[in-house]
Order: sequence, then structure tokens, then C-alpha cells
Amino acid sequence: MRFTSILAVAATAVITVTALQYSAPATADAFADAEDAVKYRQSAFSLIRENFGHMAGMVRGEIEFDAESFQKRAEALKHLSYIPFDGFSGAGHGVTENSDALPSIWENWGDFSEKSEAFNKAAHELATASQSGDLRSIRPKFMATARTCQQCHEGYRAD
Ligand code: HEC
Repeated sequence: MRFTSILAVAATAVITVTALQYSAPATADAFADAEDAVKYRQSAFSLIRENFGHMAGMVRGEIEFDAESFQKRAEALKHLSYIPFDGFSGAGHGVTENSDALPSIWENWGDFSEKSEAFNKAAHELATASQSGDLRSIRPKFMATARTCQQCHEGYRAD
């Protein structure tokens, strides 16, 4: 065996051991069961709400606008915008007693995915706009992002 391939084998072994230490479920699915997935997606949405709500307060003038704080929240939202959606596939496929997700999600998966992508895109644009520190250019991007939340909740979340 050449030295380089010995190194490659050694590196693979390290990666395997590290991965095993963190992977509790024995399957490829990241969630142990449906409740686990529901908890995951709801927790992600509550982090989204926390950050979005703070930005909403500044956009509406209820909280004094602070460009740095707004930018931090917008940056967090950008990253969080992907997180809940892993919790809708695999074990999270379907509705549980503790979930407000509607069955229409899985009947219209393509549309639901498009709506989640529209949200990702809007959150990215909001984060970019927030770098200007100018509320006049931030406001329309904030409103556009808010619409993507609403457009998905309308058909896919119970009130
Ligand atoms: C592509 C669809 C989609 C988008 C976009 C979306 N949501 Fe949701 N949201 C859902 C669904 C579905 C649920 C219900 C999840 C459940 O209970 O299983 C939910 C739940 C929530 C909850 C309740 C969480 C809890 O604790 O039960 C909040 C708060 C929330 N969303 C806020 C937002 C905000 C704010 C945005 C935009 C910034 C947003 N969502 C964008 C689909 C979406």
C-alpha cells in the first residue's frame, strides 16, 4: 500500500469514528420519530419568529431602528430559513397531534417546496439589504419576506 493511500484510509477511519459518536438513530433519517421531527421544525420556526418579530418591531417603528442589530437578526434569519424544512420529510412526513401542519403539504409537495424556496430567497435578499443600514431600502425586502411566510401559512398551516 502506498503511503498516500494509507493516509486516505486513516482519514476515513477518523471520519467514521467521529460520525458514529454523533449519530444516534441507526437509519439515514435524522429523526428518531415523527414527534422528534415536529419538535425540531417547531423549534426552528420559533427562532425564526423571535428574529422576525424583532425586525418587524423596528420596521413598524415600535422599537428604535438599530442598523447593527437589524443586520444581525437578518443574517440569523437567512441561515434559519433552511432549517425547519428538513423536519417535513423522513420521519416528519405527516401530521401529529402536536403539529399545526396540514396534510395538504404532502399532497402538494412541489408547491410547498417552491414556497420554502421563495422564503429562502427573500430572507437572503433581506440580509443583503440590511447591510445598507438604510431602513428605506430594507422595508420593501422585509415586507416581501413577510408575504412569503403568509403565503405558505395560508394553505399549509392550521390557524
Ligand atoms: C413553506 C412554508 C412556510 C414558510 C415559508 C414559513 N412557515 Fe411558518 N410554519 C409552516 C408550517 C407548516 C408550520 C406548522 C409546523 C408544525 O406545527 O408542524 C409553521 C409554523 C410556524 C410557527 C409556529 C411554531 C410553533 O411553535 O408551533 C411560527 C411562529 C412560524 N411558522 C413563523 C413563520 C415566520 C415568521 C415565517 C417567515 C419569516 C414562516 N413561518 C415561514 C410553514 C411555513
